Amino acid sequence: MAKYRIGLGVSGGIAAYKAVEVLRLLQKAGCDVSVAMTRHATEFVQPLTFRALTDKHVIVDDYDPANPDPIAHINFSQNIDLLLIVPATANIIAKFANGVADDFLSSTYLATTAPVMIAPAMNTTMWEQPATQRNVERLKQDGVYFVEPVAGELACKTVGTGKLEDVENIVAQAMRLLTAETQRRGENGIESSQRLGVSAVQNDLANEKVLITVGGTREAIDPVRFISNHSSGKMGFAVAEAAAARGASVTVVAGETKVAPPENVKAVRAVSAKEMHDAVMAELPNATVFVGAAAVADYAPANAADAKIKKDGRDTMTLELEKTPDILADVSKNRHNGLIVVGFAAETNNVVEYARLKMAKKGLDIVVANDITKEGAGFNTDTNIATILTNGSEDELPLMSKRDLADRLLDQIVKLRNDGK
Ligand code: PMT
Repeated sequence: MAKYRIGLGVSGGIAAYKAVEVLRLLQKAGCDVSVAMTRHATEFVQPLTFRALTDKHVIVDDYDPANPDPIAHINFSQNIDLLLIVPATANIIAKFANGVADDFLSSTYLATTAPVMIAPAMNTTMWEQPATQRNVERLKQDGVYFVEPVAGELACKTVGTGKLEDVENIVAQAMRLLTAETQRRGENGIESSQRLGVSAVQNDLANEKVLITVGGTREAIDPVRFISNHSSGKMGFAVAEAAAARGASVTVVAGETKVAPPENVKAVRAVSAKEMHDAVMAELPNATVFVGAAAVADYAPANAADAKIKKDGRDTMTLELEKTPDILADVSKNRHNGLIVVGFAAETNNVVEYARLKMAKKGLDIVVANDITKEGAGFNTDTNIATILTNGSEDELPLMSKRDLADRLLDQIVKLRNDGK
């Protein structure tokens, strides 16, 4: 018997061809997949492709005389465990959000009681339009789960957010949603499936207390000047937001940041590496996971002046610097039983090699290695390009939003915990 029954809805965008790969991956994962397409989607991929792979009639139009089922939108929609839309256009999102049911796919959405997951793909301007964003928000409020589009080069040759997430990640998220739904139904004794939205799938960190360092530190030279770096806090706060959304209780120790901490997390402010170190050590006994996402200064002026340093005709000035405490190394050294320790490595060359060395030297469970020289990666961007390293694995990820990278990292943490860490 198939593990899960998936209704795969394909709407009309250039990424429609990727739905074929999603179908194959779902089948490999043991799912029974039925496909429905919008009329526009058939301009990009022939229904015959899906029919050949599923051995089932592909429904485009309820009223088509070739359709073997006279009330297909009801039967299709009520015999699935998940309705997964890949790719979702701005148009189908707008129809779902507004209850328009003028074709098979939009009627199916209204008629289903299964959870719904949507993977949008469209031009950046269309994705960022307030109308599209309003519709997405409304659907999220209705309990629909989104696999957000990522940044990258689009079919229209522009670069921006709107590219379909990797098919492997879409399928991984769909399977996670289905597992969580099965667990929830088992726990609650619920027979019929219901739309569960974001919260249930994300409860996999409900037992974790996650402590995260975020942003850059400032090391005073005098009351006016300091040494710092370009960290905006976006990466660390993305991890915080994702962990909180998955049920964790989250504390951030934040240095200088260009963005505000997410809601639902406890935020402790620290300026220098020393202050960040002390704040972390005070919070550490409560934590079950530590993530060092901050860019902590490695050196600080040995003797910060109490008053503003005068130039006094000097052409050069020498600052004596001393090493700051290594927060991550100290956390790892003093770890209590069960604490998972994660570091980031900001590198410019030999990225994975140097990250592995850091991992060994500091005794880490996971390292997120980011190559900060790549466009769209590193400091003060909304996206990142990283490789997630564990003691037995190496997951090289493409350009994606920092929020999605955060979820990928949290998936590894969950895996480590499930493996008995
Ligand atoms: O904040 P953003 O603008 O979003 O940018 C994100 C980021 C590039 C800052 C982030 O993705 C990142 O890579 N953070 C780590 C940057 C860094 O300082 O790497 P590192 O190789 O110097 O340090 C390795 C690890 O040790 C890091 O986890 C760091 O937090 C930790 N460390 C380093 C020195 C120190 N004294 N104490 C530490 O805890």
